[in-house]
Amino acid sequence: MDLIERPRRLRNSAILRNMISETQLNADKLIMGYFVCEGRNIRHAITSMPGIDRVSLDNLLGDVSSDIAYGLKSVLLFGIPDQKDERGKGAYDTNGIVQRAVRALKKEFPELLVITDVCLCEFTSHGHCGIVDNGKVLNDPTLALLAKTAVSQAAAGADMVAPSDMMDGRVGAIRQSLDEQGFQNIPIMSYAAKYASAFYGPFRDAAGSAPQFGDRQSYQMDFRNAREAEYEVLLDLEEGADIVMVKPALSYLDIICRVRQMVQVPVCAYNVSGEYSMVKIAAHSGFVNEEQMVKEILTSIFRAGADMVISYHTRDILKNNWFK
Ligand code: PBG
Repeated sequence: MDLIERPRRLRNSAILRNMISETQLNADKLIMGYFVCEGRNIRHAITSMPGIDRVSLDNLLGDVSSDIAYGLKSVLLFGIPDQKDERGKGAYDTNGIVQRAVRALKKEFPELLVITDVCLCEFTSHGHCGIVDNGKVLNDPTLALLAKTAVSQAAAGADMVAPSDMMDGRVGAIRQSLDEQGFQNIPIMSYAAKYASAFYGPFRDAAGSAPQFGDRQSYQMDFRNAREAEYEVLLDLEEGADIVMVKPALSYLDIICRVRQMVQVPVCAYNVSGEYSMVKIAAHSGFVNEEQMVKEILTSIFRAGADMVISYHTRDILKNNWFK
């Protein structure tokens, strides 16, 4: 045939395919999430997230140490307290589980980049991300508590704080408090476009943070909206966000792509618990090839425009060297 254009010419060998590949997975850009709980020598498998455990601080140090040996650079920490109350006190307690975990991690692994999730839902008895009054999640009174949480995490040594609550004005409130307390150099990675999503189901199981009444649709975004994501991102940037995040990732590749085109700052994407569990369960059943599927999914998130990705697959990728 008289074909001039033959795209297959550049697919002839692995060397050539690797040479022309536009997107590469890279350990520097992967962030692993951990769940740390009170107690000693505790390791509870999270049934809905095969391969991920809730661990006490001693075991967290062990897990992170072995992950660092595989090439891990950065972690996102979630705390599971023993006690919960209406105002989520454990979130901003100097000796809270997250604060102690940060201090221990930074002492043991000074080079590790430690990011903390700033939210109240793991610490409130009602499971909402803010203060509740009369069945409503109050915006403004929640801001001071979130700011206090971020400051206490920075004081413990966190390298970056990541507010995930979706209250209006929280990035500004956190920035102001961090600056007042001398943490001008601690960046804020804001969960800027965070959708109300069924994909968080396994996480809520892991963190025991499912709302006790209602849902999160009065503060997290409606998945029918894309322009609104741009609006949320712009607001967070005006308030001082250093990195903006899109969450979840896989059903929101269009949002990642739009946000990437709109802003100059780095864009993070969160490959959330439900996205992880779907792959794990399908792979355990033998229906799909886990390595191929994880590589394809993670690569697609980077290809859409993410500069870094939070993923529970990080350990498997590093350990098994799933980079090509
Ligand atoms: C806390 C928070 C959640 C996640 C990250 N931070 C849960 C939620 O908003 O309900 C979800 C992460 C995941 O599913 O992996 N607000």
